[in-house]
Amino acid sequence: MDIKTVILAAGKGTRMKSETTPKVLHEIMGKTLLGYVLDNVKNISDENYVIVGHHAQEVTDFVEKNYKNTKTILQSPQLGTGHAVSMVCPQLENYNGLVLILCGDTPLIKEDTLKKFVEFHKEQNSDITVMSTIFENPANYGRIIRAKDNSVECIVEEKDATQEQKAVKEVNAGIYCLDWGKIKSAFSQLKNNNAQGEYYLTDIISWGKINKLNVNAYILENSDEIYGINSRSNLATAAKIMNKRNLNKYMEEGVTIVDPDSTWISEDTQIGQDTIIYPATYIEGKNIIGKNCKIGPCAHLRGDVEVCDNIKIGNFVEVKKAKINSNTNVGHLSYIGDSELGSNVNIGAGTITANYDPLSKTKSKTILKDNVKIGSNSVLVAPVTVEEGANVGAGSIITKNIPQWALAITRSPLKILNNWVKSKLK
Ligand code: UD1
Ligand code: CA
Repeated sequence: MDIKTVILAAGKGTRMKSETTPKVLHEIMGKTLLGYVLDNVKNISDENYVIVGHHAQEVTDFVEKNYKNTKTILQSPQLGTGHAVSMVCPQLENYNGLVLILCGDTPLIKEDTLKKFVEFHKEQNSDITVMSTIFENPANYGRIIRAKDNSVECIVEEKDATQEQKAVKEVNAGIYCLDWGKIKSAFSQLKNNNAQGEYYLTDIISWGKINKLNVNAYILENSDEIYGINSRSNLATAAKIMNKRNLNKYMEEGVTIVDPDSTWISEDTQIGQDTIIYPATYIEGKNIIGKNCKIGPCAHLRGDVEVCDNIKIGNFVEVKKAKINSNTNVGHLSYIGDSELGSNVNIGAGTITANYDPLSKTKSKTILKDNVKIGSNSVLVAPVTVEEGANVGAGSIITKNIPQWALAITRSPLKILNNWVKSKLK
């Protein structure tokens, strides 16, 4: 059966207090919140719709640049989550398959969970399935209200809830699976007579009940996954949860993380067995790290980094968009960006690949072939290639390609003035 996904991302995100960035484009370890959600459905649905509104252009640009099979639809003005979903009605007028609805501010949900959720919907022959979970502190979430026979009756938002309803700990995750053919007519019938004056998506539950549809809740055990981000403090908490999950996965796969409390590794990083990650290392974006590598302490991998086996990336080294072949060392205090490093390369402390020209705002590449040795405190001004086996003397500024097995040195000759200090002291 077809599945299409609708992701709600039009809201203002008022509680984030951000002037420059729409909520769903805030990042965790180099990836936007919306990016996490879209990645999680890429193996589940064949077409996605992102509802945009606040900062619509930025969100649209992000989606168009990074995600195929995904369209954006403008919701303006933003009159609530139900109104947001109604924006796809014209597009899906003749569609009768399943629609999965997700929020762009819920990045911790796993692909596996979404697959099980859809399976559950099918097994139950459900028309409307909502994902729920139990929160000890359910504040701010919609509450799942069940009838005496335990069937799901409706969802009540915190702001509309009675004292008794507020005590309910089963909350709405904001994730739904709908039999579109049976539900689509609900969207023209939603009302906004509630505390926020909005058209609530949650009202499709009671609509389904009234219309004698099969309505079910899928209770998620790991409530962390549906943690929604509404504030900066939520953003920090979600990042911690995600990082802990990632680190546990790497450790299970045979990677040593010396200090999980100070180490950050993105979920789109692959790490080979027996690699050791030392404290205070921050690895964001997409990266591939080989086996038996030593990374850190205090290393920063900024994404698009691919390193082979037996590599050392040491203290205070920053690497961005670089490929590093096996047995190469970048030991200390270096910046390696837009670069290709061969095997058995040694990078002395304080080496910089000067990849950025601020006048033309362009970046250029540094290529160091196998067995190249770069002396400490050198600057490699890109575009530049150092051919196989060449050496660069410490303190050099390299602005031309260096032929193989040559020595390149730009240092001014050392002068020694005997007894110079003594002559000054007289
Ligand atoms: C919503 C649910 C609540 C649930 C919670 C889970 C409703 C009415 N409430 O509350 O039951 O427990 O999510 O996280 O649905 N959005 C639009 N257009 C709008 C309004 C919102 O696209 O007009 C988007 C937002 O950008 C956001 C998502 O919908 O991604 C949810 O909106 P938000 O305001 O965060 O809803 P909650 O108060 O969290
Ligand atoms: Ca929310």
